[in-house]
Amino acid sequence: MREVYVLNGPNLNRLGTREPDIYGSMTFSQLADLIVETASALGLQADVRQTNDEAELIGWLHEAAGGKVPVILNPAAFTHYSYALRDACAMLTAPLIEVHLSNPLAREEFRHTSVVSGLATGTIAGFGSTSYVLALEALARQS
Ligand code: DQA
Repeated sequence: MREVYVLNGPNLNRLGTREPDIYGSMTFSQLADLIVETASALGLQADVRQTNDEAELIGWLHEAAGGKVPVILNPAAFTHYSYALRDACAMLTAPLIEVHLSNPLAREEFRHTSVVSGLATGTIAGFGSTSYVLALEALARQS
């Protein structure tokens, strides 16, 4: 089965209790189950990870670059300012899909900038957990 890394940045481990009016009531563990099940139905094997640590996230991107593994990435707040994350994304050769649960463009102005979008194959935002489902479908259709 084709592998895909589904990488998640800071504070996403708090899903379910974190600002549920914005991010919904699904916990990260429920989201991870949804991702793994959806991927499997599409013939993909999803390796779902979350970290609050920028260095760890960059390390995972290096791994993906080395293995030419496609990445679905929710960089969370790093989206808006981490040039180190952007530089790591620039090393990827397989598809990179940026996802967000909320629609950052409909929120505070500092969220309107994504340093990652310019390197992504595409961005899916604003559909809650369905953003990840749509990203998996997009990836499956690409292959
Ligand atoms: C987010 C949007 C970001 O602006 C925010 O910092 C997050 C989550 C989203 O999935 O909607 O942590 O990436």
